[in-house]
Amino acid sequence: MTEPKSEKKMLSRREFGSLALGSIATIAFSQTLLSACSTNEGVAEATPRIIGPKAAPIVRHWVLELQEISSDLRSSSIPVRMWQEKIEALFSRIELKDLLKDIDFETLRKRVEMPDLGVGTAPVVFPVIDGLPEKTVFVKKIFGMKKGRAIVPHGHSNMASAHLILAGGFHMRHFEKLEDKGDSLLIRPTLDKNVKPGDASSISDEKDNVHWFIAESDESYTFDVIMLDLAGKKYDIHNLDIEKAETAGNGDLRAPKIDVNKALKKYGKQHHGEQSS
Ligand SMILES: [Fe+2]
Repeated sequence: MTEPKSEKKMLSRREFGSLALGSIATIAFSQTLLSACSTNEGVAEATPRIIGPKAAPIVRHWVLELQEISSDLRSSSIPVRMWQEKIEALFSRIELKDLLKDIDFETLRKRVEMPDLGVGTAPVVFPVIDGLPEKTVFVKKIFGMKKGRAIVPHGHSNMASAHLILAGGFHMRHFEKLEDKGDSLLIRPTLDKNVKPGDASSISDEKDNVHWFIAESDESYTFDVIMLDLAGKKYDIHNLDIEKAETAGNGDLRAPKIDVNKALKKYGKQHHGEQSS
């Protein structure tokens, strides 16, 4: 995709936020939300779809950058680590407060039905934008969950994803995947922190492959950009029983793979600060 030079200028979060976000909103995330998805196990899905007005220049720029960076990964023009850095930088430029106001997020969030166990999700539909194909090279979704609910601990094969916290807050943990042992993953803890709106993270086969989010406040939301079937190989998701992991020296863990139902039952909802059994 070719863009005018002025469109390719990288904007700071302040610059980004100071632009005419008035109409933005309604857009990128707006047109947004929602219908069903099949990529994630154990999720509730919403179907309402909102059609926003024509995209504002700032939104067009942001969306086109998402597409360009992801197209570069799809064509192997950039390594996946660079994709992670670029997407996280792009996410960090959004002035979230203005964005949420302008997209009327308070209305949108009510349209994502959140289950008692696990998460609710909805695909995002971008508006018509010159230069943006109808089907973007990446999957885009919003995830929502109530307090104590989780995106259960899991690793990935042949995929990468980036996550922007939109509302609420999460306890987020990352692990490096050192080796796939077939029925388990050898992993190394790399990150354990609380994240808030505006914070971004990402995973790939090369960096921070395993993640785990627990919502720390009611109605916590993320916006996700997901790249599937990288390197021409079918993607896969490996739910892990972290609590049953064996220590493997150097702080590494050998975590058994478990099916989604068991993962949701054990990790999808917390009771009094403890995982359900
Ligand atoms: Fe994931």
